[in-house]
Amino acid sequence: MHAMDATGGSSPLAGRTAVVTGGGSGIGAATALVLAERGARIGIMDTAIDHARTVAGAIRAAGGEAVAVRGDVSDEDDVDHAFREIVDAFGALDVLFNNAGIGLVGSVGSTSRADWDRVLAVNLTGVFLCSRAAIPFMLQSAHASIINNCSVSGLSGDVERAAYNASKGAVLQLTRQMALDYARRIRVNSVSPGAVDTPLQRRMLADPEVAERHREYLDLYVPMQREASAREVGLVVAFLASDDASYITGTNILVDGGLLAGRHSDPRALRDAAADRSQRSTDQ
Ligand SMILES: NC(=O)c1ccc[n+]([C@@H]2O[C@H](COP(=O)([O-])OP(=O)(O)OC[C@H]3O[C@@H](n4cnc5c(N)ncnc54)[C@H](O)[C@@H]3O)[C@@H](O)[C@H]2O)c1
Repeated sequence: MHAMDATGGSSPLAGRTAVVTGGGSGIGAATALVLAERGARIGIMDTAIDHARTVAGAIRAAGGEAVAVRGDVSDEDDVDHAFREIVDAFGALDVLFNNAGIGLVGSVGSTSRADWDRVLAVNLTGVFLCSRAAIPFMLQSAHASIINNCSVSGLSGDVERAAYNASKGAVLQLTRQMALDYARRIRVNSVSPGAVDTPLQRRMLADPEVAERHREYLDLYVPMQREASAREVGLVVAFLASDDASYITGTNILVDGGLLAGRHSDPRALRDAAADRSQRSTDQ
């Protein structure tokens, strides 16, 4: 049975503590809010401490509990310090959303060694370091769940995304591997969003040419023909964090609007079919 909150709503994460890395913006911020709505106490770790504090403040203003801690997921000392501080504040750790990540445009030939190292350090080594710091605390929990934020870019290649694709592919595989080692005590899964409307995405789309190409991409390749909201990803993370997912470990849930469902041998057919369907529905 789920605990009920004061408004009669369901609080499946009541009494649990969740850490969200990169929780100051985008998917991490939206997920922190969803987890808090479902009753969890939230620790937000982010390099952008002002943003993390704003999200923690919004959770507290809504009646929840949250702390913000500055920390870089690729820095071992930062990670150990942040997890210690959050566990000191709340006394336990049940859920970890490894979400902090950075993008990089570049082929193998055009990627510098420093940029390659940075993307792998944040997107992959960050998952390793945060999980390693969290696991001793999570082994004390009867409801432990780690969710890694992967991407469709971990399952198929993108033009000019060498380091990003490599990092996300490795996160997908690390998810499966960790699920085996901790199967009896900690569930470990990943979510793989497609295009998500986040501040990062909006900054990129400020260039009208990029925005036009992005619209075309959504029309031609994404069957639902729109981006996900960050909250739509957060809701899936909340499900994986909850006991409703009690027999799910080692899996990856696509949150991609159908992107990877087809081979797109004739991408224009998808757009034409969608246009045809909406015409028929206006005719009715
Ligand atoms: N936006 C998308 O379309 C999309 C799609 C698939 C997967 N993702 C993944 O979702 C995650 C979040 O992306 P977003 O779009 O919300 O990005 P975002 O830039 O809006 O938010 C990322 C947050 O992570 C923080 N961060 C960055 N590096 C960090 C570090 N080293 N240590 C701690 N915090 C750090 C940033 O300060 C920021 O608050 C990433 O892992 C990204 O790869 C995003």
